Amino acid sequence: MKSVLLGCGTVGKGVLEIMDAHPEYGRIAKVLVRNLKKHGDDPRMTDDPEAVFGTENLELVIECMGGLEPAHTYVKRALEAGCHVVTSNKKMLAAYYEELQDLAEKNGCLIRYEACVGGGIPWIHELIRLQRIDEVTAFRGIINGTTNYILSGMTDNNTSFEEALSGAQEAGYAEADPTDDIDGYDARFKVALSAAAGFGVLPAAEEIPCYGIRHISAGDIVWAKEKGRTIKLIGSGKLYDDHVELSVLPVMLKNSSLLAGVASNLNGLSAVSTTLGTSFYIGQGAGRYPTAHAVVQDIIGIGEGERVTEHCYSMPVDNSALIGCWYVRTVHPEVFHDAAEIIDGETVVTREMPFHALQELLAQCNDPDLFLALIEA
Ligand SMILES: NC(=O)c1ccc[n+]([C@@H]2O[C@H](COP(=O)([O-])OP(=O)(O)OC[C@H]3O[C@@H](n4cnc5c(N)ncnc54)[C@H](OP(=O)(O)O)[C@@H]3O)[C@@H](O)[C@H]2O)c1
Repeated sequence: MKSVLLGCGTVGKGVLEIMDAHPEYGRIAKVLVRNLKKHGDDPRMTDDPEAVFGTENLELVIECMGGLEPAHTYVKRALEAGCHVVTSNKKMLAAYYEELQDLAEKNGCLIRYEACVGGGIPWIHELIRLQRIDEVTAFRGIINGTTNYILSGMTDNNTSFEEALSGAQEAGYAEADPTDDIDGYDARFKVALSAAAGFGVLPAAEEIPCYGIRHISAGDIVWAKEKGRTIKLIGSGKLYDDHVELSVLPVMLKNSSLLAGVASNLNGLSAVSTTLGTSFYIGQGAGRYPTAHAVVQDIIGIGEGERVTEHCYSMPVDNSALIGCWYVRTVHPEVFHDAAEIIDGETVVTREMPFHALQELLAQCNDPDLFLALIEA
């Protein structure tokens, strides 16, 4: 297949290398970048989108630029021209999923996005493959490698959040502005896309409650360890008859659980489906080659004639069945007076309560620096 590549940074460069090493899967004819000076003398590099979209007999556009615009406009343009699209851009796809899938169907082409969730893990592919036989009823997992690296560092080396974050930045796992990772937004896009692929339900990402690890302290980690638990940022989804339960939350997992052992920058995901039951997937969730591998697998799938049509329908996000005991550290523990089992300084462990009841108490706390975690039953 004749293709063009939009973006040649961490992921795009890996895609170019793998595709150049495997000409049997097609040829990348042109590569769109922003700053030509950074990209050596490969004659395929250009900063002119018209030169890229003017490629003769173009069949596939590979989008690895990131961001909403111009990525969204370019992907639309590709689909309108009847070209297949492979993207690694979860933020753009979560925002425009329905529009782009409809456009792909109308124009007889495909948009594939394996690299958007779980990096190199064939997660989206597996969610779709399960549905050849099963209904996928739930998924759960560690879908952000940066926060897993930070939490593993804090747990193993007794470091502060700040030290662990700068370690992650030095190792290239966290960006200079780590907001999307540590506040859980990156995981939220991935939960939205997992719900689309697994349940056929696409929520707006903003509807998914999302708490990150920005305010976690070394003391929270010690508290969990003393109770035989490990804190992980978990994205999860459950399908009900008339609604979906979706969330991104720090969870105090029992040390015996499989996810508690998924350390460093790895991702770990599980799906529950009707005949297979629980299946578990673990691997590199980000980085140049694992992510590029996932992009190229999508390219190969399209080239081999794999045809996947995804239709999403609307269902409300409703977390009323999400019930548990909650660990909360806040400067206003008194708010939990009637709801708590333990109050120790600023640390509160609530009695079992639904998530929406917890949210009402959190609103009363009005504490922007609080940290909360669900204590796994
Ligand atoms: N990094 C990962 O491990 C990873 C994992 C999974 C998914 N992703 C996703 O993959 C996408 C790309 O990530 P990345 O880490 O590869 O990003 P990156 O290193 O910042 O690379 C972005 C590339 O896109 C080009 N670009 C950006 N804006 C452009 C514009 N307006 N016109 C032309 N070219 C433009 C840049 O050109 P210049 O080089 O000239 O600046 C660069 O080559 C993102 O959506 C990200 O969320 C990344």
